[in-house]
Amino acid sequence: MSRAKICGTGSCLPAGRVTNQDLTKWVDTSDEWITTRTGIKTRHVAVKGEETSRLAADAARQALKMTGMQAEDLNIIIVATITPDMTMPSCACLVQQELGALNAFAFDVNAACSGFVYGLDVAEKYINSNPCLNILVIGAETLSGRTNWKDRNTCVLFGDGAGACILTGEESGRGIVASKLYSDGRLFNLLKMAGAPSMNAELARDDHDGSYIKMAGRDVFKYAVRCMEKAVAAVLTNAAVDIEEIKLLIPHQANIRILKSLADHLGIDYEKIYINLQKYGNTSAASIPIALDEANREGRLVKNDLLLLCCFGGGFTWGAMVLRW
Ligand code: ACO
Repeated sequence: MSRAKICGTGSCLPAGRVTNQDLTKWVDTSDEWITTRTGIKTRHVAVKGEETSRLAADAARQALKMTGMQAEDLNIIIVATITPDMTMPSCACLVQQELGALNAFAFDVNAACSGFVYGLDVAEKYINSNPCLNILVIGAETLSGRTNWKDRNTCVLFGDGAGACILTGEESGRGIVASKLYSDGRLFNLLKMAGAPSMNAELARDDHDGSYIKMAGRDVFKYAVRCMEKAVAAVLTNAAVDIEEIKLLIPHQANIRILKSLADHLGIDYEKIYINLQKYGNTSAASIPIALDEANREGRLVKNDLLLLCCFGGGFTWGAMVLRW
């Protein structure tokens, strides 16, 4: 049976970094508070020329280089993002133009921090129907542009970056084994980022109060742990895999305490969780593919090892995926 296998990865972080110490100049906070509550030490912040599509294209170039493919070999480009350069065209179309991937069709996926896993799931369905396809899936964000740098409740959490991978069909049993995705729109108000207000006064929402990220931190925390735990249990059942067989868990990198709590609930060895949020903060849809690329380049992903991804984000959206590397 053919499976959708990741054959190349890449990532790109903007050059500029903001430390916890830097943040103390703008808001009433401290390195100690941020470190103990979140685990985050620094985050990368983009400047002109490092728009979401540019970061995404750079990550894609690295993934292409790893596979030896040319941009023209790509059939589909999927970009998971909540911070595209423009509302229209999609970020994926801008990436297509940057790469010169003229044989592909391109579109964005918006599932907030779960977007990359949603994108992988969509790619898998295409590959199931045609294993010859080469599909580029990217998670890319510039959340710095949607962060209220005067709000200490949120500005310490987020960062910019992009990660990419290329999937194609493979007969060996390696690739995506199972995935389970969820959403619950009833909870949309607990984590949200409004766009520009409608210019049609009839349609303008009465609750529009700026386009920054807003969240109910404690509620998000509780749902994130509970939902990811359930998604992991369900996907392991579907894949007929025990948690002990998982060699590495690459979760969405939101907060160290969420990950510790998740590890306790799942009964998974903490050492088996890949964590890089101390360097990048929460990069939303980019967090899993950046971690995946780092783990890959560090040699942490061994051929045929079972790998688990899990995610949670605005919507709420959440899910989990098992892959044989
Ligand atoms: N520095 C210093 N003090 C702060 C800061 C800060 N940066 N931010 C908030 N505080 C204060 C609050 O004002 C509050 O003060 P008060 O008691 O005088 O009112 C106090 O710290 C405690 O605030 P809480 O919100 O209760 O702190 P909590 O321990 O819940 O930690 C946090 C807050 C880190 C946001 C936590 O709720 C959390 O991690 N939630 C998950 C949110 C998350 O990760 N969101 C990312 C998007 S969703 C996702 O990607 C999964």
